[in-house]
Amino acid sequence: MEADTVQEGGKRILLLYFSFSSQTKNLLHAMAEGMQRYLVTVRWERIEPVEPLHFPIGSVSQTVRMMLLTFLRRRIPIRELSDKCFQDYDLIILAGPTWSYNPSGPILSLFDRDGVRLFKGKKVLPLISCRGYWRMHWWGLKTLLRRCGARVANLIVFTHPNPEPWRTIGVFLKLAGRVPERHSWISRYYHKYGHTRDQLAEARRFGEMIALALEQGEDIGKLDFRTREAMP
Ligand SMILES: Cc1cc2nc3c(=O)[nH]c(=O)nc-3n(C[C@H](O)[C@H](O)[C@H](O)COP(=O)(O)O)c2cc1C
Repeated sequence: MEADTVQEGGKRILLLYFSFSSQTKNLLHAMAEGMQRYLVTVRWERIEPVEPLHFPIGSVSQTVRMMLLTFLRRRIPIRELSDKCFQDYDLIILAGPTWSYNPSGPILSLFDRDGVRLFKGKKVLPLISCRGYWRMHWWGLKTLLRRCGARVANLIVFTHPNPEPWRTIGVFLKLAGRVPERHSWISRYYHKYGHTRDQLAEARRFGEMIALALEQGEDIGKLDFRTREAMP
């Protein structure tokens, strides 16, 4: 469980997230580490499905089924959020994975039930973790946030830095419960699922940039969150 860090008089940040295979969670932990040195209060809230989801999904057929359902934007019911989510924040970081080109089912449920109450009039910075295909997710997320009355501050995207087609094959096998990084020949091309140490270091740096900008009253919209793998 993540511990809130409270600094009296500091700007207030809510880290609100869903993570299925811990990739978003790891990025946020690194960001929070980067924020530590600055005068900011950081509060955590994990979005929890009512029926816990287990990673890996376990079989090829269940993985295909989940991908189809998520493509159709099926909602995944979530537990009530704690009261702290509805307090006043200078910034809400809304973080989660891309699921079949969409926000994940738990995040869609969050918008249906709590979107306006959470985000109306708030500055929101989305963070997306995905294997590489995030543009449709971003477009949909931006629309959902704006409909709730949020001010979308900027965007952070981290993609898995493996080359295609191995990235897609690797993620699919991993979700289905296989271990592609140890497969006799796939392992030649696919070494690791998810984000790398370098990306976590970059997330830490982004955390520092955000906290410093808030501390100094600067515009989050002007920060450059282009990650190394996104650079030409
Ligand atoms: C059901 C499902 C569908 C996915 N669809 C996409 C997709 O359309 N595009 C993409 O880039 N990644 C997709 N992914 C991969 C995840 O976005 C990626 O592994 C992410 O880093 C997981 O973050 P998390 O561990 O925080 O859940 C999908 C993963 C799942 C479980």
